[in-house]
Amino acid sequence: MISASQSLYERAKRLIPGGTQLLSKRPEIFAPGCWPAYYREAQGCEVIDLDGNRLLDMSIMGIGTCLLGYNDPDVSSAVISRIQSGSMSSLNNPEEVELAEALLEIHPWAEQVRYARTGGEAMAIAVRIARAHGKRNIVAICGYHGWHDWYLAANLSSTDSGGRLQDHLLPGLEPLGVPDGLIKTALPFRYNHLDELEAIVRQHPDQLAAVVMEPTRHDEPVPGFLEGVRKLCNQAEAVLVVDEITAGWRLHHGGAHLKYGLQPDIAVFGKALGNGHPIAAVIGKREVMEAAQSSFISSSYWTEGVGPAAALATLTKLKSVDVPGHLKTISGSLRGGLGDLAKRLGLNLRFSGHPAITVLSFEDPQASALQTLFTVRMLAHGILTGSGFYGSWAHREEHVDRFLEASGKVLPEIAQAVENGDVLERIPGGVKHSGFSRLT
Ligand SMILES: Cc1ncc(COP(=O)(O)O)c(C=O)c1O
Repeated sequence: MISASQSLYERAKRLIPGGTQLLSKRPEIFAPGCWPAYYREAQGCEVIDLDGNRLLDMSIMGIGTCLLGYNDPDVSSAVISRIQSGSMSSLNNPEEVELAEALLEIHPWAEQVRYARTGGEAMAIAVRIARAHGKRNIVAICGYHGWHDWYLAANLSSTDSGGRLQDHLLPGLEPLGVPDGLIKTALPFRYNHLDELEAIVRQHPDQLAAVVMEPTRHDEPVPGFLEGVRKLCNQAEAVLVVDEITAGWRLHHGGAHLKYGLQPDIAVFGKALGNGHPIAAVIGKREVMEAAQSSFISSSYWTEGVGPAAALATLTKLKSVDVPGHLKTISGSLRGGLGDLAKRLGLNLRFSGHPAITVLSFEDPQASALQTLFTVRMLAHGILTGSGFYGSWAHREEHVDRFLEASGKVLPEIAQAVENGDVLERIPGGVKHSGFSRLT
């Protein structure tokens, strides 16, 4: 019998190009035909899918948005209270001022704040401010920063098969629809490759508006890298924009740049800031942020009240508990336990990235197929599993134990399938997609 989730997703694919609004939530990214596309309820680290199955989420936790867990009671109660008092009006909500003060207290180097509702648009604001400030066009970029023209411009006129952004989280992003006029306005460099940024600075003296990067994503900075970036920005008089949309709050209370002693000119937050409610913030030094007054940056829903109310409640709770420490412990247990299991079975399972943003991959020519089989079989045990684990405050050791117990039953079958050479036959809906592609 076809599930309610699967049949709704079939309808979605006819009505919604690409099926979903976010590539990372496409069922095909996990296990085509098997992954439950839709949820009815989400609480803590569990979701109930459209067919009523209760599932433990050991995957992307709302793609890193719900750091405190789904439907956190303190955040939800602040949001409900704002809604009951009216979340939109002709006047502005006072929470946005309180939130600015709270963010600046955590980041004393910054003096002003602007808001948006999603990470990608907040990054577009940051880049606009930087370009307006320096009256320059070119930005040097490292890592993924959203879907907007300023960023995808990096893949215009690229001769690399994966595009110039192929080493930056999402390979193969087509810049179709991005005007040719933006060619050579966004120039990528790789994390920990200071020489690549040096070359950009050398080739474009007096033209670099900004250097845009995550303070870290998967790797620790090598000694001198972040210091070197800051120095190059000073020399080139370019604005240093750090993207904390994923790293922020997970590795350190506030931005991960605080952990490394990096002083940016602008930092951008999103995702976990609202713990599941849309809110993003661009914070920065006054002399740079003031440029937001000379360029037109304005939107109706940037003034609604739910986002700031959610963010204030989230920040209050994040201050009272050690989330980065907790994530390290919980992810450490998962990595240790799963790694031991795999090793005993002769499976080459590799973990990478910071524990708080754990990536897991099979080192095997059939890696994607093995990953798909793992996901499919874990679903049968009531567990959402993907190629990474975004832990949350709601995850406890008992959840990791449940995950490991189920893995202890699933991994032997995977090892057997590798030995028999019949992995593909065991995956009913085919192998998961590894990147962006057309669905219909
Ligand atoms: C580092 C980084 N920047 C920007 C974005 C885009 O944020 P959003 O999906 O909220 O537009 C993401 C999303 O994954 C991200 O990880």
